[in-house]
Amino acid sequence: MRYQFFDQHPEAADFRVDVIEGLSAAEPYILPKYFYDEEGSRLFEKICNTKEYYPTRTEVGIIRNNIDDIVATLGKDCLLIEPGSGDSYKVRLLLDALRPIAYLPIDISKHYLQNEAKKLAAEFTWLNVHAICADFTGKLELPDHVSTINRVAFFPGSTIGNFSPSQAVSVLEEIRAMVGGEGGLLIGVDLRKDTNVLDAAYNDQAGYTERFNKNLLVRINRELAADFNVTEFQHYAFYNEKEHRIEMHLVSQEDQRVLIGDKVFLFKKEQSILTEYSHKYSVESFHQIASQAGFENVKTWVDKDQLFSVHYLVSN
Ligand code: AVJ
Repeated sequence: MRYQFFDQHPEAADFRVDVIEGLSAAEPYILPKYFYDEEGSRLFEKICNTKEYYPTRTEVGIIRNNIDDIVATLGKDCLLIEPGSGDSYKVRLLLDALRPIAYLPIDISKHYLQNEAKKLAAEFTWLNVHAICADFTGKLELPDHVSTINRVAFFPGSTIGNFSPSQAVSVLEEIRAMVGGEGGLLIGVDLRKDTNVLDAAYNDQAGYTERFNKNLLVRINRELAADFNVTEFQHYAFYNEKEHRIEMHLVSQEDQRVLIGDKVFLFKKEQSILTEYSHKYSVESFHQIASQAGFENVKTWVDKDQLFSVHYLVSN
């Protein structure tokens, strides 16, 4: 059997506690990890296919166009680890060429992980798939028998951009602990660019990003017995040039009062709820973050329009 499952029993995130804490803050926020319920995941896929949202197709293009070089740089016979593997879509671009000894998808949602990892094992019949249910931002133990092999982590999609630069250093340090000394990291990072291009990518004409953002309130209403009037909040996304980040907000259109269970929240007209940061880097500024986390850059691939970057880093 080439498929194995390891359950590290991650603590379930407490949606209610996190939402109440976030909305009670002086500057209210909702954590972006809560975007991805079933509807949110569906809407994110729609966003990825809009003409304005360049990151997904650009990253896929970079990997496809440079696959031989990427494989030569990573080296054969690695153990490929993917923190937050989701549907393992992008790793499929690498597997045939890279031929890793084993693939270790790590994800917090158990049943989704099991389904996707089994599907992958059925598609790539030669591949050892060791799925690990864990929170990759916490301490992670790899199965013993794989611990000595040359480890490479795969962290695509510019997920790192959701974290502030200092949090990003911590996330990279976690990944570094996972791959060990001399371990590698193949990571996708969105680049700084013309503000209009960035603003458009988070304000697509078809309105999927708006729905994705507002779906947070729909989810809170459904799962936490809340009564947000979703039409009384406006999607607002813009590039903050000083902080080099996209900010997504939901802005209250009037003075309003919202119940979440038995707790009352008051929102003033124009008051905003921060729902996401998406930090953008230059190649150099990302290398600086990486080096603070103990990673040295080996090679960087960029598309011809310099929209997106893929880096191979080695832990020193
Ligand atoms: C999945 C975090 C990389 O920041 O671009 C897309 C999420 N939010 N449109 C991003 C997202 C709005 C995306 N990441």
